[in-house]
Amino acid sequence: MLDRLQDTPPDALLALISQFAADQREDKIDLGVGVYRTDDGATPVFGAVKAGEQRLWEEQDSKSYLGPEGDRGFVHALMPIIFGSDATMGGRIDGLQTPGGTGAVRLAIALAERAGITRVHVGTPSWPNHIPIIEDVGLEAPTFRHAKEDGTADVDAVLSIIRDGREGDAVLIHACCHNPTGIDYSADQWDALAEAFADSPVLPIIDSAYQGLGEGLEEDAVGLRKVLASVPYALIAYSCDKNFGLYRDRVGALYAKVAEPGMLSASMSNAAALARANWSMPPDHGGAAVRIVLRDDAMREQWLEELDGMRQRLRWVRATLAAAGDKVDGIPLAHLEEQNGLFAMLPLDKDQIAKLRDDHAVYMAGSGRINIAGLTKGNIDKFIAALADVAA
Ligand code: LMR
Repeated sequence: MLDRLQDTPPDALLALISQFAADQREDKIDLGVGVYRTDDGATPVFGAVKAGEQRLWEEQDSKSYLGPEGDRGFVHALMPIIFGSDATMGGRIDGLQTPGGTGAVRLAIALAERAGITRVHVGTPSWPNHIPIIEDVGLEAPTFRHAKEDGTADVDAVLSIIRDGREGDAVLIHACCHNPTGIDYSADQWDALAEAFADSPVLPIIDSAYQGLGEGLEEDAVGLRKVLASVPYALIAYSCDKNFGLYRDRVGALYAKVAEPGMLSASMSNAAALARANWSMPPDHGGAAVRIVLRDDAMREQWLEELDGMRQRLRWVRATLAAAGDKVDGIPLAHLEEQNGLFAMLPLDKDQIAKLRDDHAVYMAGSGRINIAGLTKGNIDKFIAALADVAA
């Protein structure tokens, strides 16, 4: 039976990891998959997370099962960070742990499907895994334009989806640090989104995978909180992969906001049943370490400082690229400074991307997305020169 299967290509983004590893050139530059890098090009474990893991090792006396909801202490410790001081919005928000942000998106879409959603609108370009997840759950994924040529968000496009939407529609939006464009909605645009959602049957599904890497931990949650304050129902997929550096430990959470406190148990019990049928229970280690970090004042302070350092370095990369704009003909770089997070899209064609790889050992996604965290004081000039070469 299995001979009916046709070969399917590996995920292009993840395939870059092994292509980059196989390249023997010493001055190679990895701008591919979205992991943070220090100015030495490393992706170290956070000091705060190491401290949390150490305490976990000392104190944990069982690895017995926790259940499909995972570590509820972790899920609840994150809530004030995501939702602010009234973290449960009067008992109307709760969540459960998931295997990474991807697990949270998967569970959000599956839960939406159970609730009668048939279409999830996606602003494109988007994270390349969003549409495959939606379609794999069996829903339609119509698209709209996320960004305009001038490097700002096409807010009218998303507003018309929300205003014209019908029962059974959801729209997937990025809370901050849009992947892959780096182009976020402004505060005024979030106000317009919140207002439009308030009068619309369209369900907001908000993917928050980069909180703290854009403008700041609080600032990056402003839009999400505005939308939540104006709608009866929403789903929020959250990832700790980047802001705690826990990538391979797969640490995420799905939250549901409902109209009345009494309605939460239906959302939570259905999400738990779906989790049980998918992965049974999420991996515990990383979530438990995050819980310990967030509940300990000193570790929490250390985490905030480390996150600040990441954000400042990303801002330095953006400012340096923007300032080099006049050295690169035809590839606008100035607007990168206004954008947020790990990613930016460069208007490069296939040949230019291949030339960057073959002639300059610069690896990036085939879409033109770069992970700016791969740029350091040691390699950013080489990258700018390489861009100027392929642009010429
Ligand atoms: C990315 O977009 O590079 C990251 O979110 C990693 C992934 O899983 O694709």
